[in-house]
Amino acid sequence: MPGSELFDHLEIEAVADVLKRKVIHRYAYHEVREGNYRVDEFEAKVAELSGAKHCLAVSSGTAALYVPFKAMGICPGDEIITSSFTFIATVEAILECGAVPILGDVDESLNLSPESAEDLITEHTKAIMPVHMFGAAADMDAFRALGAKYGIPVVEDACQAMGGTYNGKALGTMGLWGSYSLDPNKLLTVGEGGLIVTDDDELYNRMEYYHDHGHIHSKILDRGAEGKACLGFNFRMSELQGALGLVQAAKMQQAISMTRKTKATILDAVKKTGLELRDLPDREGEIATQIVFLLPTPEKAVLFQKAAKEAGAGCSILSGNTWHYAKHWTTLREGAMYSRNRCPYDCPYVEDMPLYRPLEWERTEKILSRAVMFGLNIVMDDARVEKMITAIKAGAKAAL
Ligand SMILES: Cc1ncc(COP(=O)(O)O)c(C=O)c1O
Repeated sequence: MPGSELFDHLEIEAVADVLKRKVIHRYAYHEVREGNYRVDEFEAKVAELSGAKHCLAVSSGTAALYVPFKAMGICPGDEIITSSFTFIATVEAILECGAVPILGDVDESLNLSPESAEDLITEHTKAIMPVHMFGAAADMDAFRALGAKYGIPVVEDACQAMGGTYNGKALGTMGLWGSYSLDPNKLLTVGEGGLIVTDDDELYNRMEYYHDHGHIHSKILDRGAEGKACLGFNFRMSELQGALGLVQAAKMQQAISMTRKTKATILDAVKKTGLELRDLPDREGEIATQIVFLLPTPEKAVLFQKAAKEAGAGCSILSGNTWHYAKHWTTLREGAMYSRNRCPYDCPYVEDMPLYRPLEWERTEKILSRAVMFGLNIVMDDARVEKMITAIKAGAKAAL
């Protein structure tokens, strides 16, 4: 799936151009950069592509979750509801604010279940954060209705789903803010980087200040003479990544068309097997970076996996996915932090810290143990596609 599969002379030239001009800071050096601001251009391009009013580029997808939480003022004692099936960065961004991640069950879309999220709302809930896993939308109508019912902001971890849509709207643009990751595994990559999109002027300004030590940015003043709005940190993106991002953004639709075409070819070839796909609220809008089938039972998923492997293409059973399933996160359970003040674990502001016990997410376990997943690349030759088709058919024959 990585966007680096499409790297060619355009990325090389864009990066070389920045190197030749020797200005790699996104701010400052106004007098020598001759109007070149690649990160600014990249942000404007992503705002245009997503339809968001504002876009802020930062140093990682993790930072793209943490910065907006900080700008919202999230702090110890606050609770954020998110999914038990996500990448641990989602949860770390919350913990880093001293806040409490409340992890709900998924439904058969493999995204946070709106019903589960509603059950977890308390007086401390400050945001509900569905995660658009494997490039496909969570049920955003239901989440927006939930947010409106309780007056709680909905925010989107769209780190795995840049370019995806839900009923025609870009993922990441349906809540207060949304985040994209541009890390090396993503369909649009700049090596390391992240983006936050929002329509909220005040939030955008706060994020913009906070992500660069509070600087009130100017294109005229020397950086040292700029005013400061707040205490902040450094989550800046560099011009090298900005230049790369601009080229990659122009290729995003091409990349998505390629994964969608491959997925359609495979699904068409296996349509008579009787296999069931995960249940997506908007199948057309997904970026097709994975194929997930839900088998009738966990035992059948094991049979499927074995037969598919023997036929030449491996797949994973998602309940065993240590990257993405909270059941496996020992560090979360143990509160493995270096700081002496271990908020939110031992924290005067937190009454009920969850224990995050394995098998706490019964519904999630039931679904993930039946889910088998194949990853797709952007570039896949016919032989690889054929092998995957053969493996899926073999898996289905053994399991169904
Ligand atoms: C759901 C999710 N959230 C957040 C992140 C963090 O992004 P990054 O690796 O760019 O920090 C990722 C990265 O894979 C992710 O999958």
